[in-house]
Amino acid sequence: MLLLSIIAIGICHAASLALNANGSFDEHGVCQCSLTLPDTTFPADRMEILEIENSKLTASVQQQIIKIESYQVTLTGYLQKLTNLTKRLEIEEMGRSYTELDFELLKLEIKELESLVVQLKASINGSNTLVESLFVQMQNISIIVNQLESYDKNNVLAVRREMAILRKHLEECKIGQVLPPNPPSFLGTCKHGGLANISKPFVVQLNWLGFSYKFGGWGKDSFTGAEQDIHWVAPLQTDGRIMNIMRLYPSYDDLLLYKRPTDKIFTKNLPYSQIDYTITGQGGGMIVFNNSIYSNCYNTRDICKYNLDTNAVERKVLTDATFNNRFSYSSSSWQDIDLASDEDGLWVIYSTEQNAGNIVISKLGSISLVVEKTWSTSQYKTSVTNAFMVCGVLYATRTLNTRKEEIFYMYDTKTNKEGQLSIILEKMMENVQSLSYNPNDHKLYMYNDGYLITYDLSFKTLSNMA
Ligand SMILES: *[C@@H]1O[C@H](CO)[C@@H](O)[C@H](O)[C@H]1NC(C)=O
Ligand SMILES: *[C@@H]1O[C@H](CO)[C@@H](O)[C@H](O)[C@H]1NC(C)=O
Ligand SMILES: *[C@@H]1O[C@H](CO)[C@@H](O)[C@H](O)[C@H]1NC(C)=O
Ligand SMILES: *[C@@H]1O[C@H](CO)[C@@H](O)[C@H](O)[C@H]1NC(C)=O
Ligand SMILES: *[C@@H]1O[C@H](CO)[C@@H](O)[C@H](O)[C@H]1NC(C)=O
Ligand SMILES: *[C@@H]1O[C@H](CO)[C@@H](O)[C@H](O)[C@H]1NC(C)=O
Repeated sequence: MLLLSIIAIGICHAASLALNANGSFDEHGVCQCSLTLPDTTFPADRMEILEIENSKLTASVQQQIIKIESYQVTLTGYLQKLTNLTKRLEIEEMGRSYTELDFELLKLEIKELESLVVQLKASINGSNTLVESLFVQMQNISIIVNQLESYDKNNVLAVRREMAILRKHLEECKIGQVLPPNPPSFLGTCKHGGLANISKPFVVQLNWLGFSYKFGGWGKDSFTGAEQDIHWVAPLQTDGRIMNIMRLYPSYDDLLLYKRPTDKIFTKNLPYSQIDYTITGQGGGMIVFNNSIYSNCYNTRDICKYNLDTNAVERKVLTDATFNNRFSYSSSSWQDIDLASDEDGLWVIYSTEQNAGNIVISKLGSISLVVEKTWSTSQYKTSVTNAFMVCGVLYATRTLNTRKEEIFYMYDTKTNKEGQLSIILEKMMENVQSLSYNPNDHKLYMYNDGYLITYDLSFKTLSNMA
């Protein structure tokens, strides 16, 4: 409402019809009128309503903002949780990248199966539909794995299962064939004429700590007649030097599935997380013999014997032995002192200054750790990639290329004679970190850039001897 004052003399009347006037005289004779202006002139009411609406709206917006802010708090919480999860995943991946590692293993297995199928194809006269179809399936799987790697990383297990079925088919296929009679096996004895040949590599598994643990050793108890179900795996720390942990699996199947492990952690005098250097091993030259693990003791020329039943540790100096990378092998550091075993017992392969860095072989008492006899060879140790003993004969390997290794040198401790030979070993990965022989199954156990590989050895019959 607007209030106007109109000065009028005599009369007090409405000035115009348009004005809905109502007036009265005050004590000074001034007419005062109250006018109601038509709505069209100024929409004061609506303005008022608008103002009210506006303030209502503002309040509501304020409420919404408060709501949004609370959503934001919740959202930030979720985001934090997500970030936390991502971080955890990243940490796990750093420690052990499951997908990458599983794919690497798969690829190796495929490679191995492919070579088996090719072998089978070659050995079968003419065409064989079963083998042909296996071959196609193999190629299909290879393609699938490559696709999977870029799309779906969770199907690794499914593919591995399929691989296992294929492997079984292959074996059935092999059995169906007429095979040449098996050569005599001479298991556990030395009634043969020495090493004749070596099989294709058989990929067993990746070590349980993963891809980045490239150094170490593995196998079964190499004492003739020892229990043969238990498998041991001893990856070195990633420095390729410290051996302070090993894992025992009660059976081969458990090893394949990483199941039911027993860990041996060499920390007798210190808490779990610290390294006890008084009983730590050094390098990948370790061997399990008669339920003890023998190794070069850390930072010394001593031999350490760790009893796997009692956890008791004994050590003895290996006189004159050089150590700490003075004369290690060419493809693995810290392996100046390499333990070995065969049908005759326990051996140590090392080097001395007196023998100018050439390989020295000693027969070792497994209980006393005393050297019983020593042989000096003329083979320079650092030009060899690894060595093993079979029936008192040392065999040494060297690298031909990234895929092939050659057994090129031998030394017979019974005749004190050395010789050259050439038996080719195919490798799955480039570097051989350890190689040891088990007289109980005539197999070589190789630790190949973190992968566990075996080979079957075949021997000449005595009549074949040169
Ligand atoms: C004038 O005022 C009287 C009383 O205040 C009211 O009853 C009347 O309706 C008014 N007339 C007009 C034209 O506004
Ligand atoms: C995220 O991790 C940090 C520290 O690790 C922790 O304090 C925080 O509570 C975690 N947040 C959530 C939402 O889990
Ligand atoms: C392979 O098959 C051919 C004919 O199909 C036959 O002459 C030859 O003897 C066979 N070889 C073997 C090793 O069976
Ligand atoms: C191989 O893959 C092709 C195309 O994906 C499919 O048609 C074929 O049946 C597969 N063969 C076998 C033996 O799995
Ligand atoms: C030795 O074994 C390899 C692999 O199994 C094989 O290819 C090769 O023909 C064998 N050599 C001899 C002389 O038997
Ligand atoms: C093997 O171990 C058993 C039990 O500890 C022991 O009696 C035996 O003398 C050991 N033999 C060798 C050759 O080390």
